[in-house]
Amino acid sequence: MGRLDNKIALVTGAGQGIGEAIVELFAREGAHVVVSDLDLARANEVAAQIVRSGGRAAACGLDVTDEPGWQRAIAWIQAELGGLDILVNNAGVALVKSIEDTSLAQFRNVMRVNVEGVFLGIKHAAPALAARAKGRATTAAIVNLASVLGVQGIPDNIAYGTSKAAVRQLSRCAAIEFAERDTPIRVNAVLPAVTDTPMVRREIEEWAELGTFGTRDVETTRAAFGARVPLKRIGSAAEIAYTVLFAASDESSFTTGAEYAVDGGRLAV
Ligand SMILES: NC(=O)c1ccc[n+]([C@@H]2O[C@H](COP(=O)([O-])OP(=O)(O)OC[C@H]3O[C@@H](n4cnc5c(N)ncnc54)[C@H](O)[C@@H]3O)[C@@H](O)[C@H]2O)c1
Repeated sequence: MGRLDNKIALVTGAGQGIGEAIVELFAREGAHVVVSDLDLARANEVAAQIVRSGGRAAACGLDVTDEPGWQRAIAWIQAELGGLDILVNNAGVALVKSIEDTSLAQFRNVMRVNVEGVFLGIKHAAPALAARAKGRATTAAIVNLASVLGVQGIPDNIAYGTSKAAVRQLSRCAAIEFAERDTPIRVNAVLPAVTDTPMVRREIEEWAELGTFGTRDVETTRAAFGARVPLKRIGSAAEIAYTVLFAASDESSFTTGAEYAVDGGRLAV
């Protein structure tokens, strides 16, 4: 028995990093996964690897800022797979820049992907999620990837930090609207910190360039960043994926509007 048997799950930004770890874990737990990403070639590779390992997966090119793209993706999933049980809004972009150096265009781009992308996902997946959950004993689930940096302020992070605070509020507003209107969809947020993915590897190099953590050396920056975590290390994408799995599965059936920090203890300090 898998923890997601008979579930159909769409994960955005699943071509690498945390999203890739989520689709791999979901497929191992019995879900039919839709691996979507801006980069269709990477989504295809991840889906093919899952199928080679005995899982069920389809790939889909989806830019989360593209509203007609969302409509096409959801219609395709309903027609080809028979409906949708789980949406993971994982796609996101980072921006390591001071306030002074952040242009309005850059600020808006982060908001477009990280905030509008999640809004569009919730809006366009909700009818399909609710339709499949109606009349069943379980609810559908949306899991949004926010961040510890949507709670804590750090320098050179104005756009990303603001966008991730907004993702937390998108999650709460959707959770309560669905609950109060008897729409069978739970919405929860997962807040990772410093997870070893291409995004963070790039950020560490950019922090080193700016000297954000008092050094311009990449390895010293990586160590300094890890040292800020009470568990004194950077997390793995698989460690985030396990919490997303719980929030997406029926095991969390009495949970909505909640936040799960997967942060090595950062928010407890
Ligand atoms: N890595 C961390 O430490 C960390 C910490 C907190 C939160 N997060 C959040 O977790 C999520 C995944 O992060 P990651 O570290 O795996 O990032 P990543 O950059 O390694 O991977 C992100 C994926 O999203 C895709 N993507 C980017 N823009 C897109 C768009 N417009 N439409 C569709 N796909 C798009 C990219 O192609 C890429 O495959 C993000 O929302 C990120 O903000 C990550």
